[in-house]
Amino acid sequence: MKVLVYSAKEFEIPFLEKENKGKFKITFIEDALTSETAMKAVGFDAICIFSGDTASNIVLEKLKDFGVKYIALRSAGYDNVNLLTAKKLNIKVANVPAYSPYAIAEHAASLLLALNRKLIESNRRVKRYNFNLNNLIGFDLNNKTVGIVGTGKIGAIMAKIMNGFGCNLIGYDIEENKELIRNYKLKYVSLQNLCEQADIITLHLPLNKDTFHLIDEEKIEAMKPGVIIINTARGAVLNTEHILDALENKKIGALGIDVYENEKGIFFKDLSNNIPNDNLLLKLNAMPNVLITGHHAYLTAEALSNIAETTINNLESWSSGKVNINEL
Ligand code: NAI
Repeated sequence: MKVLVYSAKEFEIPFLEKENKGKFKITFIEDALTSETAMKAVGFDAICIFSGDTASNIVLEKLKDFGVKYIALRSAGYDNVNLLTAKKLNIKVANVPAYSPYAIAEHAASLLLALNRKLIESNRRVKRYNFNLNNLIGFDLNNKTVGIVGTGKIGAIMAKIMNGFGCNLIGYDIEENKELIRNYKLKYVSLQNLCEQADIITLHLPLNKDTFHLIDEEKIEAMKPGVIIINTARGAVLNTEHILDALENKKIGALGIDVYENEKGIFFKDLSNNIPNDNLLLKLNAMPNVLITGHHAYLTAEALSNIAETTINNLESWSSGKVNINEL
């Protein structure tokens, strides 16, 4: 089977090659999958994509014409693939459902700690030998209420971590996780109540039609003044314009994001000499109480190794005609 890996990044290639052990003929390209780059898949049986790649209707139709039968996602999220169309065209799609929920939850916790304790500003001062401590006051996490929106695999680890800090946990999900209630005394509440009660809100939901702009001005209105919001899920779960307004009027105390609504075409690239013409991002980036990382929550050795292993297993199941348990 010939496999084309789109959006291949230098750091992940060794993990995929090590796991492949020469089983498949893999070609790596830096380009993201778009309707323009779809034609690069001519002659390949399978393609392998990540969150910045787009497998929309038109792209899938082109891929079908070019003979592509399989799409192996190197991600857990699959909001970038039109699954209905893929099914219609008989293109099989599989994801990596759980590669390391620890990587993402620990990154969410890192964003929270860095923002609350103003680590970036503190270190910036120390680099200039300025040891002044003014305006660096944070708050104890102990006894604060953390609202976990989406208590699946990643949200559950976030609950464990925040429980370790002595936080009170409240959660919102369409399905309750009884273990979190038992182990960490997490209380399930409505999203409205979660917004009203939480000092910190952390998002761990997939992006779909029900979660698009889930956090908007109405939800923000209900929140405590000074709330810290952390988003490592998908950018569009937040209405970023409404979030920016609330940061400007100081309703939101701080924002930590690893994902951004308009990140496609921006994230994963070095644009230092070609600053993106994206006002929302420029405004967020200029705020001292906003901490942005470029979709790198998954960047741990364990996660990359697990992604590579499951991706190769997905391809192997298809090539050997076995049932692929990760098929979507
Ligand atoms: P999961 O499927 O284990 O958990 C998601 C939870 O959200 C489930 O408990 C589900 O019931 C809940 N949910 C779904 N729709 C909902 C709705 N409309 N309202 C309330 N709850 C709803 O997924 P996991 O592994 O915890 O990942 C969560 C998300 O994190 C992924 O979908 C992905 O988009 C994102 N992610 C981000 C990464 C990054 O590098 N920043 C890496 C991996 C995942």
